[in-house]
Amino acid sequence: MINILGIESSCDDTSAAVISDGYLLSNVTAGQAVHEAYGGVVPELASRAHQQNIIPVVHEALKRANVRKEDLSAIAFTRGPGLMGSLMVGTSFAKGLAQALDIPLIDVNHLQAHVLAHFVKEKYAESKQPTFPLLCLLVSGGNSQIILVKSYKEMQVIGQTIDDAAGEAFDKCAKVMGLPYPGGPVIDRLAKEGNPRAFKFSKPQIAGFDYSFSGLKTSFLYTLRDRLKENPHFIEENKNDLCAALQLTVVEILMDKLRRAAKELRIKEIAVAGGVSANSALREAFVQHAEKYGWNVFIPKFAFTTDNAAMIAQTGLFKYADGDFCEITEVPFARVGV
Ligand code: KG4
Repeated sequence: MINILGIESSCDDTSAAVISDGYLLSNVTAGQAVHEAYGGVVPELASRAHQQNIIPVVHEALKRANVRKEDLSAIAFTRGPGLMGSLMVGTSFAKGLAQALDIPLIDVNHLQAHVLAHFVKEKYAESKQPTFPLLCLLVSGGNSQIILVKSYKEMQVIGQTIDDAAGEAFDKCAKVMGLPYPGGPVIDRLAKEGNPRAFKFSKPQIAGFDYSFSGLKTSFLYTLRDRLKENPHFIEENKNDLCAALQLTVVEILMDKLRRAAKELRIKEIAVAGGVSANSALREAFVQHAEKYGWNVFIPKFAFTTDNAAMIAQTGLFKYADGDFCEITEVPFARVGV
C-alpha cells in the first residue's frame, strides 16, 4: 500500500494530509488568526506560527488517517512559490522526517498542486475527474492565470495578470471600504444583498489571454472618492451594491478571457482553482457556462479552494508513480523562476 504524507506551509496555513491507496484519508489545516490585526499576512509571524503548528498538525493527520509514520512511503512538501520563511518550516520538517524514516522526498510546486486538487479522490464522496487537455483558471491572492494542462506535469501558463491578482483586487477594494482582511469572502457575503448593476466599473482592454485588475481598482477608488464628496455616508449606504457590482466586474473580466481561451483552443474541460474559486458568483458563472457552452466544469470543494495539503499529497502521488523524487539538498523558492 502506498502512503503519501503531504505537507503545505507556503503562506499562513499549516496543513498535512495522508493519501493511502489513492484515497485521501486525512487533511488537517491550522490557520493563523494572528494576522487579522494587521490587515494582511506578516511573514515573520507566519513562519513562527508554522513552527508551532507543524508537529501537532502532522501528528493529527497521521492519527486521523490511522497510518503510522513508519508505514509512510514518501513525503511530499511544498517547495514554492510562497513566503520564504514559511516554506522553510515545511521543507525542513519534511526533510528531517524523510531522512529519519529513510523514505523518498518529493518536492511540489504549489500552483501545480492547486490545479491537481481536482484529482483528489475521497472514499464515499463522488468525484468526477477531469481528462487532459484541461484549462484551469487559477485565481488566488497572488495569482490570476489561465493554465493549459496537458498532463499532470505538463502545464503551460497561457495568460496571467500583468499587475494585481483577482484576490488582491477584492482585498484592496475591501480595504478602501473599511472592510476586514481578507476582503474577498466579506465582499462575497455583502454582495448577496446588493444590486450588481447599481454601479459600473471599468474593464481592461488588453490583448491575448492576460489579465489586469489595477484599472478596476482605480475606477473603484475614483467612484468612492467622487461620491464621498457629495455624501460622506456613501460607502455605508451603498455597501451591498458596491460589493455586488465589484464582484460582477471581477467575474466578468475572468470569464471573458477564459471563454475566449476555451474557444480558441477548443477545450471544454474547464476547471477553477485557488482561494477566489470560493467566490459564489464565480462558481455560479462556471455553472452557467457549463449549460450555455457545453463545458465540463470542475469546481473544487471549499476545503480545496484554500491552501491545503491534500493537493500536495495528490501531486506527490503522481510524482511517486513516476519515481520523480528530490534530493535532500533541494531548497525552497519564493517566486517562480527564482
Ligand atoms: O489561494 P489563497 O487562499 O491564498 C493566496 O494566494 O493568498 O487565496 C486567498 C485569496 C484572498 O485574496 C481572498 O480574499 C480570496 O482568495 N477569497 C475570495 C473568497 N474567498 C477567498 N475572494 C472572493 N470571494 C470569496 N468567497
